Amino acid sequence: MAFKRLLLGFLGLPLRVKLILSFLGVILFGGLVSLFFGTRLEHKTIFSLAQAKVKHDLASAWTVYNERLNDIRDIVLLNASRDAVLAAIETGDRDALLRTLGRVRKDFNLDILTITDASGKVVLRTSRPEIYGDDQSGDVLVRRALSRGVATGTELIPRPELIKEGEAYADRSYLRFIPTPKAAPRPEDHEENGMMLKGAAPVVDESGRILGVLYGGILLNQNYDIVDRVKDIVFKGETYKDKEIGTVTIFQNDLRISTNVTDERGQRAIGTRVSQEVNDAVLMQGASWVGRAFVVSHWYITAYEPIRNTDGKIIGMLYVGMLERPYIDLRNSVMLTFAAMSALCVVLLVGILFFIASRITDPLRRMVAAANQIAQGDLNQHVQLAGGDEIGQLAQSFNQMTERLKAANENLIQWGTTLERRVEERTRELRETQGFLVQSEKLASLGKMAAGVAHEINNPLTSILLNTHLMLEKLDKRHDFFENLSLIADETSRCTEIVKGLLEFARQNPPQKVSTDVNELIERTAQLLDNQASFQSIRIVRDIDPSLPPVKLDRNKIQQVFWNLILNAFEAMPKGGQLTVSGRLSPDKKYVQIQFIDSGVGIAKENINKLFDPFFTTKNSGTGLGLAVTYGIIEQHDGKIEVKSEIGQGTVFTLSFPVGEHIGVP
Ligand SMILES: Nc1ncnc2c1ncn2[C@@H]1O[C@H](COP(=O)(O)OP(=O)(O)OP(=O)(O)O)[C@@H](O)[C@H]1O
Ligand SMILES: [Mg+2]
Repeated sequence: MAFKRLLLGFLGLPLRVKLILSFLGVILFGGLVSLFFGTRLEHKTIFSLAQAKVKHDLASAWTVYNERLNDIRDIVLLNASRDAVLAAIETGDRDALLRTLGRVRKDFNLDILTITDASGKVVLRTSRPEIYGDDQSGDVLVRRALSRGVATGTELIPRPELIKEGEAYADRSYLRFIPTPKAAPRPEDHEENGMMLKGAAPVVDESGRILGVLYGGILLNQNYDIVDRVKDIVFKGETYKDKEIGTVTIFQNDLRISTNVTDERGQRAIGTRVSQEVNDAVLMQGASWVGRAFVVSHWYITAYEPIRNTDGKIIGMLYVGMLERPYIDLRNSVMLTFAAMSALCVVLLVGILFFIASRITDPLRRMVAAANQIAQGDLNQHVQLAGGDEIGQLAQSFNQMTERLKAANENLIQWGTTLERRVEERTRELRETQGFLVQSEKLASLGKMAAGVAHEINNPLTSILLNTHLMLEKLDKRHDFFENLSLIADETSRCTEIVKGLLEFARQNPPQKVSTDVNELIERTAQLLDNQASFQSIRIVRDIDPSLPPVKLDRNKIQQVFWNLILNAFEAMPKGGQLTVSGRLSPDKKYVQIQFIDSGVGIAKENINKLFDPFFTTKNSGTGLGLAVTYGIIEQHDGKIEVKSEIGQGTVFTLSFPVGEHIGVP
């Protein structure tokens, strides 16, 4: 469960962290494994080197040890054959012997130098002349010298024998055990015997007769000649942190009797004993022992070998040891260097990793950011990436995708606006058509009624007018009723005008369309009104495209339309002004468009929609039928009439007549 949660947590991390962590894991694992095996290998190498050295040192120690034995052998051998010695023993002259051999003992630093007769009885002890006559034939070396010639060896010397040679030797050999950790338990608490390097040679006369044995020896207990000599030769007195690196010890059994190992107080560690482990291996089993050992108070890399007596029995050990500390420190410093270098490598690798991971993830991050922007609607995203690797390709595809998305989006927007515009257009067209229909409907029903009314009142009106005129002709102008009758005639003729207009409006007879040059028709109408224009100080400007195609029109009806529009313009400019009549093709070339642009009073907004209603007028004497009739005529021509006006600025009426293909050619 916990692992799963850890895994999920890991998977949720940002890509870069994941990459770094994964690589770091691999690096750390590799680093730790190599550190582990490296230190083990290094430890082994250093320590096996140290062990090889200590073994070699032990061999050197043995050389020194055996040299000493050989010295003794040479001394006894040489002196046993001296004439003075031969003569003295033959004559039994002990004084002469003491003189000769006493000097030898001193000169060669021997502890004992003793001569026996052929039966092994002591003739003279140079170390203690007063004790003699005892039998030494039991001594293994004496026995060997008597039977086989010169012999050397290390021997244990019991205390009584030591006393015979000198009390001092017994004292030197007497050692109380100093309690030593790890030592094997022993029932005794002291040692009283001594251990001696001994050599014995037969004293032989010229005839080859054995006259006796000369034996000499060095007591090893508390004699530091050998151990210090080995130390000087092998270790050359080197120290490490004020401590001797090399130590040499001679053991009597497991007891240190000669050593340069020191205790806490810096004293030679005489009386201490070897560890149980070494005891078992070397003293019990007779093996040599190489390895770490705790010696008195420090760890040493040590080598022990058994010392055997002449009979081959193990009686002690020779030991050489090197302080372990320098090796440990060396190993530690190598390890530390190794670890520091590994750590440095890891730091370096992490740096490189960070760089690589960033190189990999940065473009992705940028793409993610760009994708987010796109998701929020900003399509102007472009990821700039160099390199043709997979990420580069991804970025390229991403950019292509964005481009397409953008294009699609723009199309959509454009389509949307076009749609909107089209809808608007259609709506406007619909509205126009609707207005047009309403207007047509209005006019049609009104036309019918007007025609009926006009027809009914036309005849009575005509007869009123006729009779009124007859009465006026007969009446004197000064007659009281003359004026009244004139008024009746005027009003009645006005009524006839209205009726005429109504009939005109209602007539709706089909137009007689003929191909017409619009330009010429306008010109003709304008000419009719030119006088009136100049009278009203109005300027008529013609702005007609001469290349206008002819249009099929009912000339009379359209002339009436032009007439109505020009008159209206005149009436809108009571103080004069300008009327521009323009004619040109519509941009789509489907219509001929004629505009009447005046600089008159303009039309109020609320009136614009009522202009084409019959009887809508703002003038006192107007019928309000002009534009209504105009509208009907334009409609009959499948044309359009539009008005734009600005109060105080002027008004523009635009007529559009379709240009039929069949009539497009003059
Ligand atoms: N060019 C124009 N400038 C300003 N107002 C105009 C113009 N043309 C028409 N009008 C307005 O439209 C109304 C209707 O015009 P219409 O021609 O139908 O009737 P009328 O001119 O009033 O009367 P009639 O044509 O019988 O003399 C006018 O009374 C006027 O208010
Ligand atoms: Mg009018």
